Amino acid sequence: MVRSVSGKRRVASIMPEQNSPASSHSRAVRLWLVAAAAMIFLTLIVGGATRLTESGLSITEWKPVTGVVPPLTQQAWQDEFTRYRAIPQYRELNEGMSLGQFKAIYWWEWTHRLLARLTGAVFLLPFLFFLWRGWIPRGLKARLWTIFFGGAALGAVGWWMVSSGLGDTNRVSVSQYRLAFHLTLACLIYCAIVWTSQQVVSRRIPEVTARLRYGALALAVLVLCQIYLGALVAGTDAGRAFNTWPLIDGAFIPDAARLWFATPWWRNIFENLLTIQFDHRMVAYLTWTVALLHGFDAGFSKVDRRTWTEAMTLAVLVTVQAVLGIVTLLNVVPLGLSLAHQGFAIIVLTVAVSHAERLSHGVRAAQVPASAALSRS
Ligand code: HEM
Repeated sequence: MVRSVSGKRRVASIMPEQNSPASSHSRAVRLWLVAAAAMIFLTLIVGGATRLTESGLSITEWKPVTGVVPPLTQQAWQDEFTRYRAIPQYRELNEGMSLGQFKAIYWWEWTHRLLARLTGAVFLLPFLFFLWRGWIPRGLKARLWTIFFGGAALGAVGWWMVSSGLGDTNRVSVSQYRLAFHLTLACLIYCAIVWTSQQVVSRRIPEVTARLRYGALALAVLVLCQIYLGALVAGTDAGRAFNTWPLIDGAFIPDAARLWFATPWWRNIFENLLTIQFDHRMVAYLTWTVALLHGFDAGFSKVDRRTWTEAMTLAVLVTVQAVLGIVTLLNVVPLGLSLAHQGFAIIVLTVAVSHAERLSHGVRAAQVPASAALSRS
């Protein structure tokens, strides 16, 4: 197996000129994007804990600005509690809950919303500063504004999700359609930031085969799809309905009549617990297979050490993630394991996206202006 460098080019960052002080500007912009990604990561983890502790419906109003202040008096807590007691989740699941117990679920949801707001501030304030100082090139501005408005839309989607469990409804939890959309949009924004953060500094990038390049891209897309399907499992509690592995409902591939009984057929993908969990398993096996093949591909190709290490790391991470999913399932979805399974998914996504970005440049080799492709130093 060869670990020698098969060829590396240096690519300019998408920031202005390489020389100082622009390179320190690039580093500042990169640090900012990494900080924003870290904030999203934290918000995702707390969001997962909020869902798993069934705390997500405890705040029954959406006040994007004033909502940052939690109830400060006994009366304010009582008022919040009274509003919560009017929703179906309280009546069906939490009848008789004490104010102390209510406060515990309230703090989860409040912390999740606070972190989301802070993430917005961590993104917007430095962004405005960099724009004012002229450090952001024209091409990058549109992309960063899109990310910002994507984040703002995510807040609205979050409320749209919460509202599905309030008011005139029989639901005791939020709609799985909206939950999955909310989580996937958050992950997409996260991916865009991780991807961009790598491009704002100049670095050496490997020249690899098209198969390795598209393998890396496919893997990142598969992990994202798998997260969407995982949210459907979580949102419908499908993980509690079928707790055997490798068989599900008594077979490796269940009876088609049970997988596709709802009409129209596509509703099974989102509403039939058997189909939802079956899909999550099958896409996990596919992702795992692609991760292993990609690892072998890198192992038997002439690639630089970093590409090899990333591909191998991904194969290991996807394996660990799948094992975590299976253990979570066999133990009937306990809080700690579910949280680890969700959090680890974001780590897998981070490595997959970072790896795919690094290998994606060869595609654009012909488009990199000669002046930008500096010789290897
Ligand atoms: C590449 C592999 C996998 C990835 C990326 C992945 C990702 C995820 C994510 C992100 C969630 C949670 C979504 C949320 O909390 O909103 C989830 C839930 C779940 N996954 Fe996976 N998963 C993988 C493999 C598996 C496997 C192989 C199994 C079992 C056969 C499994 C079983 C479950 C179960 C039971 C849940 C529901 C947990 C809950 O209700 O909190 N996963 N998955």
